[in-house]
Amino acid sequence: MATVLDKPAEGEAPATKARPASDIPTVPGLPFLGNTLEMAKDPAAFFVRCYRDYGPVFRIKVFGRESLVIAGPESATFMTTREGRDALRSKEFWEGLVNEYGATETITSVDGERHIKLRTLMREGFSREAVQGQYDDLRDITDRAIGRRWDVGSRVPVVEAMQYMVVEQLGTIMTGQAPLDYVKDIRFAILTILNVLVTRQRPRIMMYDPRYKKARRRVDELGQMMITDFKRQIADGTAPKNLINDIVTANIEDKDIMPDQNLSLTVTGPYVAGLDTAANTMAACIYGILKDPEILARVQAEADELFAKETLTEDDIRRLPVINGACMEAMRLWPIAVAQMRIANFDFEYAGFTIPKDEMLYIGTSVPHFMEEFFPDVTKFDVDRYQRPRAEHLQKGAYSPFGRGPHSCLGQGLAEVLMAMSIARIFHRLDLALPHPNYTLKTKTAPTPGPAMDFAVKVLGERRPSAV
Ligand code: HEM
Repeated sequence: MATVLDKPAEGEAPATKARPASDIPTVPGLPFLGNTLEMAKDPAAFFVRCYRDYGPVFRIKVFGRESLVIAGPESATFMTTREGRDALRSKEFWEGLVNEYGATETITSVDGERHIKLRTLMREGFSREAVQGQYDDLRDITDRAIGRRWDVGSRVPVVEAMQYMVVEQLGTIMTGQAPLDYVKDIRFAILTILNVLVTRQRPRIMMYDPRYKKARRRVDELGQMMITDFKRQIADGTAPKNLINDIVTANIEDKDIMPDQNLSLTVTGPYVAGLDTAANTMAACIYGILKDPEILARVQAEADELFAKETLTEDDIRRLPVINGACMEAMRLWPIAVAQMRIANFDFEYAGFTIPKDEMLYIGTSVPHFMEEFFPDVTKFDVDRYQRPRAEHLQKGAYSPFGRGPHSCLGQGLAEVLMAMSIARIFHRLDLALPHPNYTLKTKTAPTPGPAMDFAVKVLGERRPSAV
């Protein structure tokens, strides 16, 4: 699909017959606005339509900027190849965040050897194993979070409730205790940062909002506390083995890999990576389950069987075909990363066209999620797609909710455990309903695509009491 284009020597014919970038089809749009409205309304549907109409490479104009898009299963596969790894970089998209923290880099902003080093340092702390032996604690944290926001008789705004739950869960896994006093500030600061500095869908003036400034100061304070606590605990040999321990230890032992100025961003980074992604996905999952009474009954039965056990193990969480299938369907139909953004390092050939050096690219890896060819009855929330012999997600390039290639989600294992546990616990504990049976989910695109913030469910009653 793709080859690097060598510059031919003078007088020599070009080595390939790649067509010039000027031949790449342009998706027609409105004067000035280009394709912004269609993209802002539903980015996934926009990319699917363009892929169908224009093929695997096309040019769009969104948010005042022209960009190329490579999309479809071939783009997902390309990300994982040697050529794809060499040809693409992500630095520019994270510069705003890095500068905001006065840091020099973050794991998402570096490529090549440097990136491999950072991934190796953080791999264990972000893995599924990071929660091993803590499943009962995780269940109890989830119960406490339910107790705080899911009162019987109330209508619960789901995305927000899940954001609070995720902060408590991540905080406990990373530091041993939920940063309850900081939850509101973490949420406000991280969502503003994602909106303004990362996805750039909101104006920079929001960074001067006194509420942001206060929230940001508090997140810094939390980061400094985490660093000081871990430094002390590492010195006296009492530090728990986890992600923050690994990061702070690296800072003590090897300033080249973890310089002082990168510490604050790195220890609070998991909230940036995990907060909106997991919360949006779980909110979409709750909608998908409640929309279909048969799936709801199967989820409840599976959750009740899980929590009939006194102590939970890794295997128990892995073996939840209906609940895990529901989470996977939520990530297929409401992907949080519709496309990954990259810059071309050099000229390369893709699908018969030259992609020029320094071109900004959207890589539409989620396009196949919406293709009948891969997922029959494509709009149906079908939790059984992922079981063998169907295993529809295993087709080449078909399913990429966690991205593809070197920057694919490092927290995937952790996210899968958090989501399975939270969904299981919510449906075990509570009797929920959509606002009305014909309710159709509305979505938002900022900062991360997902269910709209006003998506709320009714808490009809308590099915089972809390464990705490
Ligand atoms: C449903 C939940 C989640 C989804 C769908 C998701 C998806 C993604 C995607 C698509 C990327 C790649 C972005 C790119 O290539 O530009 C990514 C990267 C990343 N994710 Fe997640 N994520 C989720 C939850 C989490 C959680 C809970 C954590 C950890 C607390 C996490 C940590 C990371 C990290 C550290 C990276 C950067 C990896 C790198 O640059 O090498 N994610 N995630």
